[in-house]
Amino acid sequence: MKPNRILLACVAAALLLTNTLTFATARPPYLNRSLPVDRRVDDLMSRMTVDEKVGQLNQLFYFSQFMKPEMMEPGLREGKIGSLLFMTDPATINRFQKIAVEQSRLKIPILFGFDVIHGFHTIFPVPLALASSWDTNLVERVQTVAAREASAAGIRWTFAPMLDIARDPRWGRIVEGAGEDPFLGARIAAAQVRGFQGSDPASPGRLLACMKHFAGYGAAAGGRDYDGAYISDAELYNVYLPPFKAAVDAGVGSAMSAYMDLNDVPATGSAFLLRDVLRTQWGFKGFVVSDANAVGNLVTHGFAEDKSDAAARALTAGVDMEMSLPIDPVSGAYSSSLAKHLQEGRVTKAQLDEAVRRVLEAKFKAGLFENPYADESRVASIHNDPDHRRLARIAAQRSAVLLRNEGNLLPLDTKFSSVAVIGPLADSKRDIRGSWSFADDIKSAVTVLEGIRAKVRPGVKVEYAPGVDIARAYPSIFETFFGRRPAAWGEAQRREEFDKAVALARSSDLIVMVLGQHEEMSGEAASQSSIELPGRQRELLESISALGKPVVLVLINGRPLDISWAVTRVPAILEAWHPGTEGGNAIADLLWGDATPGGKLPVTWPRSAGQIPIYYARNLTQEPETKQGFTSRYWDIPTSPLYPFGYGLSYTTFTYSNLRVSKPTAKLGEPVEVSVDVENTGRRSGEEVAQLYIHQRSGSASRPVRELKGFERVALAPGEKKTVRFTLGKPELTYWSAASKGWVQDPATFDVWVGGDSTATLQTKFQITR
Ligand code: BGC
Repeated sequence: MKPNRILLACVAAALLLTNTLTFATARPPYLNRSLPVDRRVDDLMSRMTVDEKVGQLNQLFYFSQFMKPEMMEPGLREGKIGSLLFMTDPATINRFQKIAVEQSRLKIPILFGFDVIHGFHTIFPVPLALASSWDTNLVERVQTVAAREASAAGIRWTFAPMLDIARDPRWGRIVEGAGEDPFLGARIAAAQVRGFQGSDPASPGRLLACMKHFAGYGAAAGGRDYDGAYISDAELYNVYLPPFKAAVDAGVGSAMSAYMDLNDVPATGSAFLLRDVLRTQWGFKGFVVSDANAVGNLVTHGFAEDKSDAAARALTAGVDMEMSLPIDPVSGAYSSSLAKHLQEGRVTKAQLDEAVRRVLEAKFKAGLFENPYADESRVASIHNDPDHRRLARIAAQRSAVLLRNEGNLLPLDTKFSSVAVIGPLADSKRDIRGSWSFADDIKSAVTVLEGIRAKVRPGVKVEYAPGVDIARAYPSIFETFFGRRPAAWGEAQRREEFDKAVALARSSDLIVMVLGQHEEMSGEAASQSSIELPGRQRELLESISALGKPVVLVLINGRPLDISWAVTRVPAILEAWHPGTEGGNAIADLLWGDATPGGKLPVTWPRSAGQIPIYYARNLTQEPETKQGFTSRYWDIPTSPLYPFGYGLSYTTFTYSNLRVSKPTAKLGEPVEVSVDVENTGRRSGEEVAQLYIHQRSGSASRPVRELKGFERVALAPGEKKTVRFTLGKPELTYWSAASKGWVQDPATFDVWVGGDSTATLQTKFQITR
């Protein structure tokens, strides 16, 4: 070959090689959407350095309020960050994503997460309220809309549903869950997962869900947030875990490890929870993220020696990704020490790869490699979709619980020509929404005062007075981020406002009092020793009730409160919880009869904090106190709650009859069908939640006096009667027995009650035999 030919051949070969390389770099198999996820993950992992792998396990907060994008950008470019949370602005999300996808070596997209708990732009009722609807279809629709709004902004992962069973209203986070009951909690859990993820979290408008806080967080000692929990195995399996199991069965994509110690082992370092239960017993395939700083916090527990030890112990226990709030991207426990552990053999390659694989799998399955960006041009139209507001109003109507309605004061008569709307929460846009409302347009929230003004007929005078002011003893962490409350009133203003409110009430025909708690009085880091109405609210209620005028009390709050004074003096009480953006309209609809209350309490309502913990599914270890003898549990107050679990009134009445079982005796494992007729015996249409409770009379362990095992919310026109059917199969009749240390179904006699709350009296029974 002539030298110039040789040169030409070399050039051609070099070009070919470059082309091949370029092609290989531009389109490696992991970027080929038509390949199965496993292959893509294998291919990607084969290209990753240890630092890039550790980077995928590193999740950081980004607070636009006090951080600058420049703080994050180098870490994104270098592949040191796998996920970011707390961002809500689509432009910044896209800006960061572009760096990861175009400028990082392997172009791995960032998974953006946020606490989409009860809405994003449109705020729905808080989770405790949604659970009060006992309407799983509604809950699913709500979370579908929440997912649609959040994903429009570029968020692809929500830290919800929160599935902690809570039996202590002092614990502020009771507001974030579905209340005290494992059966109701499990149904609501599955509905939320379906709502967020749909059948595929990668489909447009859906999010990856994250069940939290795994597990036992709601049993915090003394109701103090973050405190340790001691839960027996029986209570764990029978009470605290069922909602999580239901979420896993519904296909939830991720889980968050809880902050606290469970029986002396931090949940974030618990191989029992994260491996034995989650993976081995339940076959969970998603990934686990720690709660914020929970890995580093293992040192605080007196568990890990230092941050580096914490990283090794969390990873080997089964925490795949660390959520942390570091100063720079490499100061988290994982990012600062996993590479070293790998080198020194404290963590194996297999252990590291297992975690990385799960995170990457989630990113592929969420469709992030194909659709990494938010479509900024569509955000506003999705957020302002009027259907979302309509659903928010319906959700708030359906979540309210009517606690009292003496003399059928509600729905309100149109004869009232002047209405006094009184109370510190009556015109508060902030408090109508509830905790975890960070991304909405607060101005568009409708207060109770605004809802009432829009509702009354022309000519009716509606006037407002706050009457009292309320405040936490010290500000909440969220207040420091999202705006302090105005300073408390001075003594002179206090007296003046109080008197003004009483005078306004005196000159009005009807008084609607809106009392309760600020949104930051419940939620995270918002536990409370007392459950009294804060401030001078009760005093105001007493003074106004003394006027002898019709008074309706509307409660805006995130936990049951001590209202024992009110329940014998105030004729009408509506628990609205924090009802969300459309709350004021929904409350007015309910008060004036354009909607009928049908919600039921998902928690037992105590008379006072002294009864806590109080829940209906307790074991009866002594004769009931209705009998004479050594039976009284307290001598100063009754043992019974103020309102039982499942309780709630309507504007109509319902009667239950004809309770029957398909067979009086069934063999172990065979299902029993139960049916009952529910009739609307009043003069208005309404909805009733028919609830089925069982009691197992004997067995290998003591069983609760009652356990919810079925419910259905039924709509009935006046005079209409419907038959409601339930199935009691093996899952409903099986429990984890402390005596045999495992799941059992005992041959036994079972009592069955069906009715409108957990004190239902219509009863039958059946027997399970060998
Ligand atoms: C909370 C979690 C939340 C996380 C991220 C933590 O403080 O416990 O529930 O998802 O912060 O915001």
